[in-house]
Amino acid sequence: MSKLISSSIGKKLFMSVTGLFLMMFLMVHLTINLLLIFDDTGELFNIGANFMVTNPIIKIVEPLLAVGFLLHMIYASFLTLTNMKARQVNYKRFNQTKSSSWASRNMYVLGALILTFLVLHIMNFYWKIKVDHSVAMVHYNGIEMHDTYSLVAGLFKSCLIYNLLYIAGAVFLGIHLTHGFWSAFQTIGWSSDIWRKRIEVVGKIFAFIIAAGFSIIPLYFIIKF
Ligand code: HEM
Repeated sequence: MSKLISSSIGKKLFMSVTGLFLMMFLMVHLTINLLLIFDDTGELFNIGANFMVTNPIIKIVEPLLAVGFLLHMIYASFLTLTNMKARQVNYKRFNQTKSSSWASRNMYVLGALILTFLVLHIMNFYWKIKVDHSVAMVHYNGIEMHDTYSLVAGLFKSCLIYNLLYIAGAVFLGIHLTHGFWSAFQTIGWSSDIWRKRIEVVGKIFAFIIAAGFSIIPLYFIIKF
C-alpha cells in the first residue's frame, strides 16, 4: 500500500479519486446554489442550504471533502515537483501546443488560482456561518435556519469586484476541469480509443456547465440589482 501511495501512478490515482469526489461535490453545490436565482425572497435557497447542512450524509461527507481537497493539493504538488525534476529535456525543441492542451500544461497554476478563490470564498460564507456565527436566523414552517440567502445576496449586491472574482473563480475551475475530468477517468482505466474521445467530450460539457452555472449567479445579481 505504501508503495502504491509513493509511486507516480499511485499519486495520480489519488489525484483522480479525490478529483472525482470533488466533482460530485461541485454538482451538488451548484444545484443548491442555483436556487439563489429562482426565488428573490431567499426562502427556496435557505431551505435548500439548510437541508444540506442538517443532512446526516452531508455531515459525514463534509470532513471527507476537506481531506479530499487537502490530499488533492498535496499530491498535485508532489506530482508537479517530480515532473519538474524529471524534465531534463529542453522542451522548447518540441511544439508542446500540438501534443497537449494549455489546461493540461497549467493544471498546477490553475489549481493555485482556484485555491486562492476558495480561501476568499470560505472567508465570505462558510467562516461567517460556522465560525463567526454572525449570520441572522430565519424561520420557515417553525424551523429555524441561517439566512444564508441574505449573506450571499448581500455580498453580490455590495460590490461588483466580488461578482467578478466569483466569475473568475468559476472560469478557472472550468478550464481546470476540461483537462481534469478526462485525465481522472483515463487514470482509473477508461482510456481505450473509443472512450477517450467520448470522455473528452463529456468532460468539456461538464466543465462548461460548472463554469457557466457558477458564473450565472453573480451575473444574475449584476444584471438584476
Ligand atoms: C456563485 C458561486 C458560489 C456560491 C454562491 C457559493 C455559496 C456557498 C455557501 C453559501 C457556502 C456555505 C454553506 C454552508 O456552510 O451553509 C459555501 C461553502 C463552500 N463552497 Fe461555495 N459557492 C459558490 C462557488 C463555489 C465554488 C466554485 C467552489 C469550488 C471551487 C465552492 C466550494 C465551496 C466549499 C468547499 C465550501 C465549504 C463546504 C460546505 O459548506 O459544504 N463554492 N459556498
